[in-house]
Amino acid sequence: MIHRDNKPIQVEFCDGKLCSSQAARDLRVGIEDLFSLRAGQSSPNGDIHLEHAECEGDCLISPKVVIDGKIYEGLTKENMLETIKNRLGD
Ligand code: FES
Repeated sequence: MIHRDNKPIQVEFCDGKLCSSQAARDLRVGIEDLFSLRAGQSSPNGDIHLEHAECEGDCLISPKVVIDGKIYEGLTKENMLETIKNRLGD
């Protein structure tokens, strides 16, 4: 399934020190495993593109995740995947 705008959903994970906690790694690995991709890649079906991002000073909300330009804070693995699935229209 392709994102409704025919563009992959862009998911960015901050690589900064505070956002590189185990919880942040668990979020990233959850996406990598579910969508069969690694940072810098798109999923085989083109739904998701995953990128690293540099710290932009929003460290108080770590782990910072940006999905299609919207900043999310306090995501868990479950609600992050739910957010992505909702954007996919599943
Ligand atoms: S370390 Fe992630 S926003 Fe600063």
